[in-house]
Amino acid sequence: MRRVTLTQFLIEQQRAGRISPDLRLLIEVVARAVKAISVNVSKGALAGVLGEAGTDNVQGEAQKKLDVIANEILLQANEWGGHLAAMASEEVETVHQIPFDYPKGGFLLLFDPLDGSSNIDVNISVGTIFSVLRNPAGGSEPTEANFLQPGSEQVAAGYAVYGPSTQLVLTVGNGVHGFTLDREMGSFVYTQPFMTIPVDTQEFAINASNARFWEQPVKRYVDEMQAGKGGPLGKDYNMRWVASMVADVHRILTRGGIFMYPMDEKCRAKGGKLRLMYEANPMAMLVEQAGGAASTGRERIMDLKPTELHQRVPVILGSKNEVERVVSYHLEA
Ligand code: AHG
Ligand code: MN
Ligand code: MN
Repeated sequence: MRRVTLTQFLIEQQRAGRISPDLRLLIEVVARAVKAISVNVSKGALAGVLGEAGTDNVQGEAQKKLDVIANEILLQANEWGGHLAAMASEEVETVHQIPFDYPKGGFLLLFDPLDGSSNIDVNISVGTIFSVLRNPAGGSEPTEANFLQPGSEQVAAGYAVYGPSTQLVLTVGNGVHGFTLDREMGSFVYTQPFMTIPVDTQEFAINASNARFWEQPVKRYVDEMQAGKGGPLGKDYNMRWVASMVADVHRILTRGGIFMYPMDEKCRAKGGKLRLMYEANPMAMLVEQAGGAASTGRERIMDLKPTELHQRVPVILGSKNEVERVVSYHLEA
């Protein structure tokens, strides 16, 4: 069987006019950084990468060593290629400018360098999430305001999941495509063309320890799922919660499901738990490209007009019919 690598896939996308040479380079560089992060993640205790970094990020969260390492790898890998105007990271307070000695390009890159940090030390899958926007500012140094574009403006989005195998899942607006890292060859091999999310599902993901903080529409929906075959939804559901959004979304892109980190009383003051620019928007683009839906419960995620770089939002995404059901419960309430 002919093996198609990520490089080959991207060149074919470029030939078909779907991506520019600069966007191809950008994605290749992100993939290279992901390989380096994968090496660090998989060495674990042998490389001394587990545990706390001893610092807090701008959002007041304690950083793990791997949060810092993954962030450094992504920043350094993407600085010199000439394809970026600037970067923004969950782990960095404000816009990361390209150093003066390197040429600048037309794209903005945003990332959650290490998603699922609480799973690092227990050897459970973690990931990296990224989003690509065009720089509307032209020649000047991009400001935070230049990043505040709705998710519908994304030109590419993807994630890497560092699980039993390392996989890269990508969209450039033409479906969702999955690649598996061949560690011996050092290349990503095209293994999952056009990933799709079935419209119906019997699997849900939510952190049920927050049940007492949920809003009524989410309580109603979870109660109805738990009522099973004899309840109003007429079917039995199964539950999964990895606590790495990347791993939960990867399962949904593989076999369907609904993922919720909804608004609740605990996170209301912050606007939600998950980050709009680094988590919600890129995952929403992937999920919609795979035939699913992504909403806050009240609005389509990719329609939101961001107000700040580290903004948080409620997230409900996955199998279309189930997401639409939850949205209808919110609208009724
Ligand atoms: P991060 O590690 O980048 O801070 O993100 C963690 C996120 C997300 O990956 C996951 O779905 C959620 O936080 C888990 O939250 P709980 O620990 O509240 O379940
Ligand atoms: Mn995250
Ligand atoms: Mn993170």
